[in-house]
Amino acid sequence: MTSIRKDDHIRLALQQSDENPISDFDRIRFVHRSIPNNKESISLQTKIAGLDLNFPFYINAMTGGSETAKKINTQLAQVAKQTGLAMATGSLSAALKDVAQESSYQIVRQTFEDGIIFANIGANRTLDDARRAVDILKANALQIHLNAPQEIVMPEGDRDFHLWQANISDIVRNLEVEVIVKEVGFGMSRETAKQLIQLGVKTLDVSGRGGTNFIRIENARRPIALEYLDEWGLSTVESLMDCYALSDKVDVIASGGIRHPLDMAKAFALGAKAIGLSGTILNLLHSGGVNYAVSVIENWKDELQMIMLMLGISHIEEFGSCDLILDQALIRWCEQRKIPIQMFTLRNL
Ligand SMILES: Cc1cc2nc3c(=O)[nH]c(=O)nc-3n(C[C@H](O)[C@H](O)[C@H](O)COP(=O)(O)O)c2cc1C
Repeated sequence: MTSIRKDDHIRLALQQSDENPISDFDRIRFVHRSIPNNKESISLQTKIAGLDLNFPFYINAMTGGSETAKKINTQLAQVAKQTGLAMATGSLSAALKDVAQESSYQIVRQTFEDGIIFANIGANRTLDDARRAVDILKANALQIHLNAPQEIVMPEGDRDFHLWQANISDIVRNLEVEVIVKEVGFGMSRETAKQLIQLGVKTLDVSGRGGTNFIRIENARRPIALEYLDEWGLSTVESLMDCYALSDKVDVIASGGIRHPLDMAKAFALGAKAIGLSGTILNLLHSGGVNYAVSVIENWKDELQMIMLMLGISHIEEFGSCDLILDQALIRWCEQRKIPIQMFTLRNL
């Protein structure tokens, strides 16, 4: 069942690639600066979960647990190795249930032996499960995913969430590697972020709406779709704005609907320390294979530096000093959430 579900997810995620209407990232512009820094001074390095990343974006959690998933994981790991990006595997739940599935994840470590690799489990899993998941991959960090809307709409979903908080707290406090708690495309409010901080979480990935949509995916697998739930959740931009004031308490990663380096730049300006990409990379692989994905990613590294030149900045954290212009929809979001927009629009007064 888990293998069939994984294959469904890959197929249905690929079908979503042209479905998304306007992105919230398109509702933001940078205030241009006319005097660039020296190109040689630009660095793309960042740090998350205690790990130094040479590039501030990575391949986010997708797959493992079936033959198709193994092929995709092999290709993703080749892309990660050739570009030097960090990479997360999909949830290891299939391997925790059936050791025969371990190889579909381990291929990632075998392909990219010295890479930065994140394991991934659900919040229903215990500290022992977390340790096994990390061990299977010799992972550098662990992602715990929060996917309640997906489980609720999934025909065979697990609706028992009562151990989530206890598991997260136990794992975060006792696991030997750092933990990233992530959404799966529904975004995170600052109320959720505060709850996670209370549980001891130091790094979260808001993974917002705007890209892969797991309610749509599960609806396509239901006999009777609950289409009215399709637009549930907060966008990545809304989530970043909501969590912005917590940046001294938690490191925030952005994912969900990131299409290109300009989206990344805007996410950094909204406080993200790194960017995760799933659907966009899956589509690159699907449309052009490993070499094509590698060439696009190599271009992205240059293009991100070009954007930094146009903003006169040299380091990723300096995006936080760049002024933004927001459209009415985002201003309304800030008003209702009592977020002072000057934090984004007038940073240099
Ligand atoms: C095919 C597919 C499978 C996924 N499986 C997982 C998973 O096992 N664990 C997880 O945390 N997130 C999973 N995700 C969610 C992504 O990590 C990410 O949070 C979400 O897709 C939003 O990012 P995107 O818009 O760049 O795709 C999956 C995404 C895709 C496309």
